[in-house]
Amino acid sequence: ATNRTFTMIKPDAVKNGHIGNILAMITNAGYQIVSLKLTQLSVKDAENFYAIHAERSFFGELVEFMSSGPIVAAILEKENAVDDFRTLIGATNPNEAADGTIRKMYATSLGENAVHGSDSDANAAIEGAFHFAIREQF
Ligand code: CMP
Repeated sequence: ATNRTFTMIKPDAVKNGHIGNILAMITNAGYQIVSLKLTQLSVKDAENFYAIHAERSFFGELVEFMSSGPIVAAILEKENAVDDFRTLIGATNPNEAADGTIRKMYATSLGENAVHGSDSDANAAIEGAFHFAIREQF
């Protein structure tokens, strides 16, 4: 069925000038952009967004990185959006990401891995609502 996922182009990829190329890969893969903005997470925002990882050893590093500079947030729509997007971005660790995936092409490390993709329909809805008002969801 047609559904939605949520993505962020992370501070590393924004800094490195990859916004345009990554959005092109996303739209070339058949995604419709439902919502889109350049924004920056505060430390508190990042702690709230990643609350499920609060007990992990890398939480502090993750929050510091994700609040370190501008990000692009987007809601995307397509048939099988969540699963196909995880295929498009590749493994969390860019060293393990398949050729042609966004992380293989643009990520620099496990922590600074260029893009986020929701892991379920339920989380896509929660994460999209974190960043966008209803009137911003087209
Ligand atoms: P993402 O799946 O978007 O959301 C959680 C993030 O935590 C993940 O991307 C990685 O960038 C990051 N992450 C996972 N494992 C580690 C780790 N061992 N060290 C630093 N960051 C990590």
